[in-house]
Amino acid sequence: MNNFSFLKDKPEYRSFSKDCIDAEAAFRTSYDSCVKLVRTALDAAIKWLYATEKKIPPGNLFELIEQAGFDKDLADKLHYCRIAGNEAIHNEKEFSAHEARQCLKNLFDFVQWIDARYGKNFSPRTFNTAENILQTELCGMKLNTPIFAASGTFGFGEEFESFVDLERLGGVMVKCITLKPRRGNDGVRITETPSGMLNCIGLENPGVEVFLSKILPRIKNKMNVVVNVSGSSVEDYARLAKLLDVEGVAAIELNISCPNVKDGGIIFGTDERQAAKVTSAAKKSTRKPVIVKLSPNVTDITKIARAVEAAGADCLSLINTLMGMEINIHTWRPTLGNITGGLSGGAIKPIAVRMVWQVSQAVKVPIIGMGGIRSASDAAEFFLAGASAVAIGTSNFAEPSITMKIADDLEKYLRSCGLKNIKELIGKLKA
Ligand SMILES: Cc1cc2nc3c(=O)[nH]c(=O)nc-3n(C[C@H](O)[C@H](O)[C@H](O)COP(=O)(O)O)c2cc1C
Repeated sequence: MNNFSFLKDKPEYRSFSKDCIDAEAAFRTSYDSCVKLVRTALDAAIKWLYATEKKIPPGNLFELIEQAGFDKDLADKLHYCRIAGNEAIHNEKEFSAHEARQCLKNLFDFVQWIDARYGKNFSPRTFNTAENILQTELCGMKLNTPIFAASGTFGFGEEFESFVDLERLGGVMVKCITLKPRRGNDGVRITETPSGMLNCIGLENPGVEVFLSKILPRIKNKMNVVVNVSGSSVEDYARLAKLLDVEGVAAIELNISCPNVKDGGIIFGTDERQAAKVTSAAKKSTRKPVIVKLSPNVTDITKIARAVEAAGADCLSLINTLMGMEINIHTWRPTLGNITGGLSGGAIKPIAVRMVWQVSQAVKVPIIGMGGIRSASDAAEFFLAGASAVAIGTSNFAEPSITMKIADDLEKYLRSCGLKNIKELIGKLKA
């Protein structure tokens, strides 16, 4: 982030510009110091405002707000920075990257307001959330970071808003959507395993109509929305792709790999011809980029990858969960209501890395790698294996803000390697 550097050319703001630049620089090393320094910068900027607007008598922030004609939104933003700063200074509260960035963003809006009112701010700037080092693009989508949230583990994104700066994600692959609403499977749906979990949710979702009318309008301006879809026939996928060809949908991800439903999903993902049919039917029905999500429950994943690439897939995502099972030895029954479930989490990472590497040798389209990523070093393995972006699934349950930590640490890792952008890491495995 380099949002305040424009202040260097504006000597009239000398009394607060250095504080703003220092606050942003502190973000790299300590979020707590960043929040404290935002508070210092804010005070300096307010002092400048008092001095400039001689008619405003010194008083509290709210008198100033009233007299200077702030809008309520800006007043709330300043209030947020003040309270956070006080908490950091007096109570030594610890702050997350998301909170520190929010303080910086609010300070930035204040400085923009000042510059619009007193300076010559003809072209207002927008706050750049991403580090340039992590910015990239995929299938025409601009990504602030190459880190997605994986489908089924992040709801519709909004549920994570208080833990995650959604703008800082490459995008959210929302929970799988089907033509009609689904209740999902009965009985136990989730069980923990050594280094992972088994699930058999069974694609519970409200259906495409509710998604389009109620959910999409709420989330579309907050993130790149990738809609994961599943159907029971080739026509279902085509209809879903057509219905979702609307503003606010960044891409469609075809889930041809769900191991937990009887009527569809995985049967398309384990047969090359079926996988190709579904892909070309979806491609013909939409102008959106089509991502095809591959199943690891096959003998040779590269065959399916080649088939869907030839059928027009714009991107591949892999891997979905591996079919697994657990038995309760006291009842002699399966733990899960569906008997079998999909294994995800740390345990599957080596398999996922291997598959991403194999697929990256077999196709030219970009790959979103996923499966057991818990840290930036896990993510780096996927990039080295050939992924252009990664998605985080099960780890979100253990640590809801994990995607932000991975972004922070990935940036540090790239710097430590002397790289200027994430693209320089993709496919650089020495083998
Ligand atoms: C509870 C749960 C629900 C999931 N639901 C979906 C889904 O609706 N659609 C889909 O394509 N993948 C779904 N997945 C698979 C994940 O998106 C991801 O591909 C897989 O879990 C591997 O990544 P991970 O190990 O980081 O979780 C689900 C996974 C879990 C754990």
